[in-house]
Amino acid sequence: MDQSHITMKLQNKTIIITGASKGLGVAMAEVCSREGAKVVIAAPSQPDLDLVADRIRAAGGTIEAVAADVSRPADLENLVAKTVATFGRIDGVINNAGINYVKPFLEIDPKEWQRVLDVDLNGAFLLTQLSARQMVKQGGGGSIVQIASVHTHAALVGAAPYDAAKHGMVGFSKAAAVELAPLGIRVNILSPGLCATEIWKDIVAAAPSEKECLDYWYANIPGQRLIAPEEVAKSCVFLLSDDSSCITGANIFADLGMTSLLLGREPYASKAITDGTK
Ligand SMILES: NC(=O)c1ccc[n+]([C@@H]2O[C@H](COP(=O)([O-])OP(=O)(O)OC[C@H]3O[C@@H](n4cnc5c(N)ncnc54)[C@H](O)[C@@H]3O)[C@@H](O)[C@H]2O)c1
Repeated sequence: MDQSHITMKLQNKTIIITGASKGLGVAMAEVCSREGAKVVIAAPSQPDLDLVADRIRAAGGTIEAVAADVSRPADLENLVAKTVATFGRIDGVINNAGINYVKPFLEIDPKEWQRVLDVDLNGAFLLTQLSARQMVKQGGGGSIVQIASVHTHAALVGAAPYDAAKHGMVGFSKAAAVELAPLGIRVNILSPGLCATEIWKDIVAAAPSEKECLDYWYANIPGQRLIAPEEVAKSCVFLLSDDSSCITGANIFADLGMTSLLLGREPYASKAITDGTK
């Protein structure tokens, strides 16, 4: 079939992706590259980034790998400067880098609280600000995507710093969206549910058996499966591309219905409630 009429959704756009040495970030880099973007990936480990970059280059992609810890302002300034020096502009950003410490509320160490806020919230804020300044300078608008979580709908037990950081992302992103909209810069939040990354391996490892683990999670996920990293990446492409040109300030749940469900399915059948006429 002749597919020459199909255009790539991110053709000629330069996109920065943080946290792209493993997990969802790698899928984002691969999918954005496939859609024609020039990609700049960032994470603390240069060797890990280079492995990802080499693979994408071998597949024909245009990619640069810049070591950066998003909690360090100097690293983010360098990331933006290197992107502009290499590709001349920034059209999109995915603030994907994120960490979580799972601990009961009463046992949270202030240092752990601070670290999660520094990486998940402050890093995303600063890169949004630095990139948006560059977008204003170069003209032509842009699109910034924050990777938050279903934790922006309600809390899960043992994740207070993460809950706070991800809610904070929604707050500053809505503020940025309304202030930057007149300049053609869109800021949206994508909130994934449970994805098939290393986090899932950790969850299964902590369960008595994989079956019990699946039974529990599938009772709480209407779609009854895990989300593939590529699915999250494709939602990012939508938000980065002109296909979403009228969407800004939105928090979109990519969660197979998880946050629409109040309680998981009961393991027994409850009596149907009727109006008593039958
Ligand atoms: N996996 C899920 O089920 C899920 C669900 C909802 C939201 N999320 C969010 O998606 C994002 C990616 O999750 P993942 O599962 O791929 O995580 P992951 O742990 O597999 O990968 C995280 C990436 O972030 C990088 N990173 C960590 N600290 C960093 C720092 N200080 N500076 C720069 N990069 C840093 C790591 O090197 C890695 O590349 C996170 O923000 C996470 O909160 C994940």
